[in-house]
Amino acid sequence: MLSLKYPVLAVIALSIGTVNAIIGDATWYTPNGDYGACGAPLQNSDYIVALASNQYAGGARCWKHISASYRGNFVNATVGDLCPGCRNNQIDLSSTAFKKLAHLDIGLLHHVTWYYYD
Ligand SMILES: *[C@@H]1O[C@H](CO)[C@@H](O)[C@H](O)[C@H]1NC(C)=O
Repeated sequence: MLSLKYPVLAVIALSIGTVNAIIGDATWYTPNGDYGACGAPLQNSDYIVALASNQYAGGARCWKHISASYRGNFVNATVGDLCPGCRNNQIDLSSTAFKKLAHLDIGLLHHVTWYYYD
């Protein structure tokens, strides 16, 4: 019997074939050419994603690729940064990447499905 020990953990990890999909919020930021936590400068025009600290895993996920979808829109982005203020499963996308999912004015998206594809 599944006990709801961690209700905050909205981890609905579905299985799509062998890929583990994660569902969480998405936000956006502008790296502005600054160095990301992965150690390279990041441009606003790059398709970059910053991960919450437990998923960033001390840099273990740096330069992996994620694929995210929201209401029929899709984007791929490369892990280049840590998002210290993100909740578990939240992705903080570069503005360019976020725009593939929704208008920047929306700012915060719920129920974005994403997964690592490498
Ligand atoms: C994302 O990358 C995957 C794996 O390379 C590819 O199959 C897919 O078409 C890409 N999707 C987009 C929206 O670029």
